Amino acid sequence: MLFGLGLISLFTGHVASDLEWYSQRLVKRSFFYSRLEGRRREGIDIWKSKYSNLFYGCSERGRNFPSAIRERASNGYLLIAASGGLNQQRTGITDAVVVARILNATLVVPDDFVNIFDIDWFISYLANDVTIVKRVPDKVMRSMEKPPYTMRVPRKSPPEYYLDQVLPILLRRRVVQLTKFDYRLASNLDEELQKLRCRVNYHGLRFTKPIQEIGERLVTEMRKMAKHYIAVHLRFEPDMLAFSGCYFGGGEKERFELGEIRKRWATLPDLSPDGERERGKCPLTPHEVGLMLRALGFANNTYLYVASGEIYGGEETLRPLRELFPNFYTKEMLAVEDLKPFLPFSSRLAAIDYIVCDESDVFVTNNNGNMAKILAGRRRYAGHKRTIRPNAKKLSALFMARDQMDWDTFSKKVKASQRGFMGEPDEVRPGRGDFHEYPSCICERPFTDDENSKGEDRLSARIPVN
Ligand SMILES: *[C@@H]1O[C@H](CO)[C@@H](O)[C@H](O)[C@H]1NC(C)=O
Ligand SMILES: *[C@@H]1O[C@H](CO)[C@@H](O)[C@H](O)[C@H]1NC(C)=O
Repeated sequence: MLFGLGLISLFTGHVASDLEWYSQRLVKRSFFYSRLEGRRREGIDIWKSKYSNLFYGCSERGRNFPSAIRERASNGYLLIAASGGLNQQRTGITDAVVVARILNATLVVPDDFVNIFDIDWFISYLANDVTIVKRVPDKVMRSMEKPPYTMRVPRKSPPEYYLDQVLPILLRRRVVQLTKFDYRLASNLDEELQKLRCRVNYHGLRFTKPIQEIGERLVTEMRKMAKHYIAVHLRFEPDMLAFSGCYFGGGEKERFELGEIRKRWATLPDLSPDGERERGKCPLTPHEVGLMLRALGFANNTYLYVASGEIYGGEETLRPLRELFPNFYTKEMLAVEDLKPFLPFSSRLAAIDYIVCDESDVFVTNNNGNMAKILAGRRRYAGHKRTIRPNAKKLSALFMARDQMDWDTFSKKVKASQRGFMGEPDEVRPGRGDFHEYPSCICERPFTDDENSKGEDRLSARIPVN
């Protein structure tokens, strides 16, 4: 089994500590942010941020942003090979549009794009920004003396890198393919390019009609049963757990099984499972996610949509979560027949989960993987829809001491630990951190004296349903 860098960064990366780092940097606060301050202690509505309507996603092109270079006049054809799962590919495609723009190149859509995304919409929606074609014209292919040049650019390269290193090759060879293209473009770009990134990711990328339809059907099913629902994105695969070096309470059997898997990576350091837990490096178990949600105040009759891949320990591992939230649903439970055509395709299945998670009132994850990040960013853009990231570092101590306190104390402490991790607008300044997780194309509404008169009608940042 292959481990992408994404997964590695998931475990060496920090469920909580990244966020803590950002929140320590919230020094320069705008007027709105300072206005929000101080009110934080009032407690929050667990279903919806009270302040979300002070912000909206803003990615319209600026007046002075030149139109796309036409195919004939472009500097050549840019191909990318995206890597990883659905959401890693999504970041790659988003960044590729921006790179094509920087290079004045014509972008060629990657191979299996058409199976997941609506290709005609993508091309037409972005036509003013970048010229995109389905394939390199035969004439160009025939005129080439050598096969397309392939190269891999370093992670998070700035525009200058593309201009200095890629452009000369593109001009000479006409066709360049960038391989392993994920997170290859810097987080910080000028404002117009950031807005373009948002146009691609939040508007230009739509799933194909069959995927969109089944996703929306599942959302409808959830909404038929309940006014609100929580989407829980769980990652608890055996190899991921083994890689983390953590212990999840499964006794000798678990120690042995995860230990065997861990031998696959010869260079992993010897970690202390307790130490990792204390440092907040261990993904929450499904049971812990349930405890956190109940402690935050979600009642036992709340409806849960659970999106997950393989779960180590299967049903047994999920049972405590089901007991805490008996209204527990998965796509397999809601759409047995309709799901059949999608079953052989993991990216399409992931896309279906993406839609149901995106539409949820509350989105919760136990991990810091690509889907968690991308959806967190998208939900910020869409008006700060509630997104809960466990503060694993603080929570782990509470879970360990769960038996030593009564429920109310536990609940109070969980709420305190999660302050700053609930997807409130003032938790992080737009533009800080990784772009896909913290998109900068979020604007504050102009101040009006009578803040309370702001009605729902002013909340305009909703992403149109495809
Ligand atoms: C791309 O085209 C614009 C004009 O639209 C021009 O100003 C810019 O220098 C070009 N950049 C490259 C890399 O060709
Ligand atoms: C849910 O909680 C209520 C009390 O808040 C309790 O009476 C009921 O038995 C619980 N239901 C389940 C299925 O646990």
